[in-house]
Amino acid sequence: MKLCIALDNPNREKNLKLAEDIKEYAKDIWLKVGFRTFIRDSKEFIIELKKMGYNIFLDLKLYDIPNTMADAAEEIAKMEIDMFNVHASAGKKAMQEVMKRISKFEKRPLVLAVTALTSFTNEEFKEIYGDDIEKKATDFAKKAYEAGLDGVVCSVWESLKIKETTSNDFITLTPGIRPFGESAGDQKRVADINEAKRNLVDFIVVGRPIYKSENPKKIIEKILKEI
Ligand code: C5P
Repeated sequence: MKLCIALDNPNREKNLKLAEDIKEYAKDIWLKVGFRTFIRDSKEFIIELKKMGYNIFLDLKLYDIPNTMADAAEEIAKMEIDMFNVHASAGKKAMQEVMKRISKFEKRPLVLAVTALTSFTNEEFKEIYGDDIEKKATDFAKKAYEAGLDGVVCSVWESLKIKETTSNDFITLTPGIRPFGESAGDQKRVADINEAKRNLVDFIVVGRPIYKSENPKKIIEKILKEI
């Protein structure tokens, strides 16, 4: 299991300081760059993080028509990003198109499909997608697997079922991790490290419990020991 830290700080300086402070773990951890950071700090910021030796997960959750998604995926691959994601609800055709377009790169990024956001309750999810989270997340994962993607973003509670329906090698990356039972914030389907382990999760994403902590290094060390 690998640790991926969400760089969701309110400014570039804070994110850069965190990345610098924990540089000694660069080989063992991944950094997740999301909307806020990417919109504000763009490609140059990612190049700086790559120079420090980090693996980068670009969390932009692409959702558009197939050709537009494939265009964006190609630009991401050119940036030598290590992993990015798309919404599974964009459909199988869009996911296939993305994979086809980036297959020409010698070292292509890993591609994950977002199933259900971890902030949804089952009721909220059902209102939009018309079905229960577990069922729909598994259906989405199956489509992503058939389209040739490398894995999915899901909650810890769907990981095992998804692996059973696809393959054990199909990556599950799970946000909503509160490593040692910290406050959940807006996340609804949270879990701790032991639950993630039991559910064969490949990547855990931890944001606020690390970047908002007084001593991020101490927490990272504790997490790395545990996983
Ligand atoms: O602070 P916290 O640990 O809740 O951060 C979780 C991160 O994972 C956030 O950056 C959020 O955007 C992202 N994420 C999520 N649920 C998904 C996909 C991404 O929480 N399904």
